[in-house]
Amino acid sequence: MTHSERPVQVGIVGTGNISATYVATLHMFDFVRVKAVTDLNGAAAAGLAGEFGIDAVGLDALIDDPEIELVINLTTPVAHAAISRKALLAGKHVYSEKPLGITMEEAEELVAIASRSGLRLGCAPDTFLGGGHQLTRRLLDEGAIGQPVAATALLLKPGHEHWHPNPAFFYARGGGPMLDVGPYYVTNLIALFGSATRVVGMAKRTRAERPVLSEPRRGEIIKVDVPTHTTGVIEFENGTTVTIIASFDIVAHKHNQIEIYGSEGSMITPDPNMFTGDVEIFRRGGAGWQHCPVDHPYVEGVPGRLGLRGLGAAEMVDAYRSGRPHRVSAELALHALEIMTALERSQGQAIAIKSRAARPEPIAAATKPGHFA
Ligand SMILES: NC(=O)c1ccc[n+]([C@@H]2O[C@H](COP(=O)([O-])OP(=O)(O)OC[C@H]3O[C@@H](n4cnc5c(N)ncnc54)[C@H](O)[C@@H]3O)[C@@H](O)[C@H]2O)c1
Repeated sequence: MTHSERPVQVGIVGTGNISATYVATLHMFDFVRVKAVTDLNGAAAAGLAGEFGIDAVGLDALIDDPEIELVINLTTPVAHAAISRKALLAGKHVYSEKPLGITMEEAEELVAIASRSGLRLGCAPDTFLGGGHQLTRRLLDEGAIGQPVAATALLLKPGHEHWHPNPAFFYARGGGPMLDVGPYYVTNLIALFGSATRVVGMAKRTRAERPVLSEPRRGEIIKVDVPTHTTGVIEFENGTTVTIIASFDIVAHKHNQIEIYGSEGSMITPDPNMFTGDVEIFRRGGAGWQHCPVDHPYVEGVPGRLGLRGLGAAEMVDAYRSGRPHRVSAELALHALEIMTALERSQGQAIAIKSRAARPEPIAAATKPGHFA
């Protein structure tokens, strides 16, 4: 794209914990600027606006602003579909935090509106765009460990009530480890192996209530409405079978997040919740585990922020300005949502996955920061 064009003006709905990271990431790119923000909590919106010198406005004013082309939806999961729908119906491109909707019906409706309106719809997570994950993919595609056979994807956490200032939504519909953190793992796996065809899973809600362990709500009791430990197997079209666990019930462990086992070796990938990290590879007949230096762009965000979250929205803007498909697509999010919700409801029965998503185009090692193609 030509960076001499006027930057695309963005409006953000939802100015909570993750919002400052988004603004900081977006402002790394000269072709996108956040013009306005809004939140049900006016003080939160004013705080973010003040920090970055942007406007805090009402929801309708933001959505009706003719200068705003893209609405970024950083509300809590139950509000995602309603806000994204409103923005799409007003003719805005939309990039949403995950999940796209809390049910397949909600998510499918958004995809249908975007497609019939010729609007772009993207949905986090975007961490697979990060340098460590792009290197993993390159090594896999080059056959560095032969044909992929199996993998483990282990999301083992004690729960967000340990650190998030307002953690109740992680245990309400649309939350839980599978829908909240699972998207990082499942999207990463789709980017590596392609579409999934079948899953089988078991899910349980280990405790009905959980106390908040973080400030300022320490001691408040959260009612748990979702499974907090889901385990299962995902079968991919390329033949890889992945053993997955998504849990908020694990105090401590020593596993790697994702390990891939191929016909000629094994690979440890970076944490899918991060943009980069160590890539290690073991080749049959080689000299043991080797560390692979990350030589792809997009490894570091603004210091003090949560990585490069928002990179996918910048990539989407670059894509629609250049007329190419965006990588962090709604189709990818919809496919991931179908896999995750099927794992949660399977209870031992195999479920066929109907949707398909193409592997997003890789980002070549030689790509200059600020560019994607
Ligand atoms: N916090 C993180 O580390 C993190 C990381 C990645 C992704 N996310 C995702 O980002 C989203 C937001 O997370 P968060 O941690 O910032 O949550 P948060 O609770 O800190 O902030 C959410 C904000 O959305 C506002 N909101 C809710 N419904 C709204 C509505 N209808 N209209 C306008 N504002 C509304 C709330 O008032 C709140 O300020 C979630 O989907 C979460 O899964 C969070």
